[in-house]
Amino acid sequence: MRDFRHLHSGKVRDLYESPDGLLLMVASDRISAYDVVLPTPIPDKGRVLTQLSLWWFERLADLVPNHVVSATDVPPEFAGRAIRCRRLEMVPVECVVRGYLTGSGLAEYATSGAVCGIRLPPGLVEGSRLEMPIFTPTTKAPIGQHDAPMTFDDVVDAVGWDTADELRTISIQVYHRGAELAARRGIIIADTKLEVGWAPDGTLVLADEVLTPDSSRFWPADTYEPGRRPQSFDKQYVRDWAARTGWDRTGPPPEIPDAVVEATRARYTEAYERLTGAPFASGRPAPATG
Ligand SMILES: Nc1ncnc2c1ncn2[C@@H]1O[C@H](COP(=O)(O)OP(=O)(O)O)[C@@H](O)[C@H]1O
Ligand SMILES: [Mg+2]
Repeated sequence: MRDFRHLHSGKVRDLYESPDGLLLMVASDRISAYDVVLPTPIPDKGRVLTQLSLWWFERLADLVPNHVVSATDVPPEFAGRAIRCRRLEMVPVECVVRGYLTGSGLAEYATSGAVCGIRLPPGLVEGSRLEMPIFTPTTKAPIGQHDAPMTFDDVVDAVGWDTADELRTISIQVYHRGAELAARRGIIIADTKLEVGWAPDGTLVLADEVLTPDSSRFWPADTYEPGRRPQSFDKQYVRDWAARTGWDRTGPPPEIPDAVVEATRARYTEAYERLTGAPFASGRPAPATG
């Protein structure tokens, strides 16, 4: 680690720069809910996010270039949960796509009949499938603040029409590809969030993480039913637990009990295994055998 300079720590990832100008992006086991990092880590979460993102980057590479340079050329202490990647100038927009209505999208729809300026038909309920996936971007709020919905015009104001249009196209394409592959494994991708950056030549490049249980909502297709809150393989479980503790989302967050940690870990690894069809290689030491 001697040669790596620490640049930034987000809620989940730590970024370092190496002398060759590449980034080292390390995914920790930290988990956040409502934009606050919880005090208890989820073992193996950093590995799941890193390995699943790598799996998807490969499967999306014909649609959009990505920031990955190497998944193996990383300091041994971070093996499995770090990548070397290109340093990009990040576009100041979180590219959200929704194929189903839930969460903050549903809340916005309930008050205005629209999400990010896109008017939707009346009568939609929790979990309703949208006729077409919609691009519902948000701002990229600094740490400790909440992302706010943006209309397409807001994105145009922020980055210009060409980039806004390209962001929307890339996001919808990635969602379609992801949703189609996941459907074959019995998983509905209800929504997802992408981050994109500019390469020095102006190309838009897919960055950060992609189609993970932190950035997406994964629902088992076999129990899906509009109008009912689905059992999900993603962060929703922890959000729901955190809400039930009575935490006000601003004060110090509660410690996560062991059983909730284990159940969360199980959901993350199950998402990985279902989607990729491969067993998840844990970073935990194997249990001692007698
Ligand atoms: N290739 C890249 N170049 C520069 N910044 C990147 C790249 N990939 C991801 N990032 C940034 O690294 C940070 C990742 O840390 P994370 O913990 O996910 O942050 P956050 O708390 O904002 O979600 C984000 O700010 C993301 O925009
Ligand atoms: Mg992030």
